[in-house]
Amino acid sequence: MRAMSYSTYGNAGVLRLVELPKPVPGPGQVLVRVMACSVNPIDWKRASGAYRLIMPAKFPAVPTYDVAGIVEQAGPGVQGFAPGARVHARIAEGTGAGAAEYAVVGVAEVTTMPEGLAFAEAAAMPLAGMTALQALRDLAGLTLEGSNQRVLVVGASGGVGHFGLQIARAAGATVVAVCSAKNADRVRRLGASAVVDYAKADAYAGLPPFDIVLDCVASDPGPFLPRLGPKGVYVTCLPGPATLLRSALNPFTRKQVKVVMLKSNAADLALLDGLYAAGKLQVVIDSRFPLEQLGAAWERSMSGRAVGKIVIDVG
Ligand SMILES: NC(=O)c1ccc[n+]([C@@H]2O[C@H](COP(=O)([O-])OP(=O)(O)OC[C@H]3O[C@@H](n4cnc5c(N)ncnc54)[C@H](OP(=O)(O)O)[C@@H]3O)[C@@H](O)[C@H]2O)c1
Repeated sequence: MRAMSYSTYGNAGVLRLVELPKPVPGPGQVLVRVMACSVNPIDWKRASGAYRLIMPAKFPAVPTYDVAGIVEQAGPGVQGFAPGARVHARIAEGTGAGAAEYAVVGVAEVTTMPEGLAFAEAAAMPLAGMTALQALRDLAGLTLEGSNQRVLVVGASGGVGHFGLQIARAAGATVVAVCSAKNADRVRRLGASAVVDYAKADAYAGLPPFDIVLDCVASDPGPFLPRLGPKGVYVTCLPGPATLLRSALNPFTRKQVKVVMLKSNAADLALLDGLYAAGKLQVVIDSRFPLEQLGAAWERSMSGRAVGKIVIDVG
């Protein structure tokens, strides 16, 4: 099968198109013919070697966690995923990889795609969508129905942020989006009741306090703690020394600081599928590339300017 792979740490230039054996699904796994996968910053951060001490790559490494495609074969003991089923997943760490014509996926992570969801959208949803969901619901205490909380989403035009904005909105929360002026209309269309332009010095003037800040851009609670209400929670997608130190002090403070670390699971992906099916979740696609141009897709992601998700068409 065709796959993109790297055999040394580096930037997008280390990626090569290679031929690899088709993987074989083990017990509790399905083999998926990949129609699309999507880029997440973790893909190129790992390839850079930045995480080599905690998550060393096994060369040749095939990147990409998010996939959507068609079940080709179910592994021993697997029920409920017949060949031909349209599925998507965020592949669990160490299980398999998505930037290839075939991927092995654990049944604990995979769900059947809802009617009407295209492969590109389905591939764009898992990692970023579940990160936003778990950050808001599990760490920040967002009530998923009838919420009257006030939520600030920093980086609301990006992959995680645009899902976070819509999940909070679907829950009933009032959402204020932080983004650049060029993306203001887009985040309003996704449900933001107000938009903060991060380039303006007095951008937060007059805004009431928030119950939740979801930060998809930085790992620094400092500027946001004054914007939280008395029992507010700041949750960031980026672990960093200041955040980890401050989160260790949580038992002694009323305002909480937390760091989300995504855990793939089919139930959360199914919840997002349900929001999509109910018309409450749109998947915004920034750009699409063929498999052999994964490097260009990474460069787009590294620019930090993507609006929504970057998708790789494989099938
Ligand atoms: N811990 C976890 O489990 C986990 C999971 C997923 C992601 N992450 C991390 O979370 C971060 C976000 O991921 P992502 O996929 O959402 O990234 P992304 O899609 O690449 O984010 C790009 C967006 O960020 C916006 N942005 C850049 N600077 C900004 C600023 N100062 N204020 C507000 N918006 C700004 C950009 O808009 P403009 O062009 O308008 O500036 C752009 O739309 C990454 O560092 C990723 O590695 C962690």
